[in-house]
Amino acid sequence: MAYSDKVVDHYENPRNVGALDKDSADVGTGLVGAPACGDVMKLQIKVSPEGIIEDAKFKTFGCGSAIASSSLVTEWVKGKTLDEAAAIKNTDIAQELALPPVKIHCSVLAEDAIKAAIKDYKAKSGIDDGKAAE
Ligand code: FES
Ligand code: FES
Repeated sequence: MAYSDKVVDHYENPRNVGALDKDSADVGTGLVGAPACGDVMKLQIKVSPEGIIEDAKFKTFGCGSAIASSSLVTEWVKGKTLDEAAAIKNTDIAQELALPPVKIHCSVLAEDAIKAAIKDYKAKSGIDDGKAAE
């Protein structure tokens, strides 16, 4: 399979690999798995008192596209509000990285991971996003 230059770049030089303290009150953690392939992605955000994402880290056990997708998303979410970050679509990720159709689920994993991290942060900090009954 031919990977795009951007995938290779993020794969070889992944941004923001690592972990934040998941027990810290200002950190949200999203851990998701892809049923299609068994890959696992952990994405964490650190949120300022003003509600801005000031840091993001990831660890991904998966293919090059999954690693590139999570690396890209950690770059994108920094400086964004929670709502802005939640609006990131897997199609944006897939387009930016020029992912082929069989690799679309890797970008879905990244969208799911950021959404899960935001949800975790909101639950921790008692923010009611109107979906509490979910
Ligand atoms: Fe899981 Fe891509 S199929 S590594
Ligand atoms: Fe499964 Fe990429 S996340 S092939």
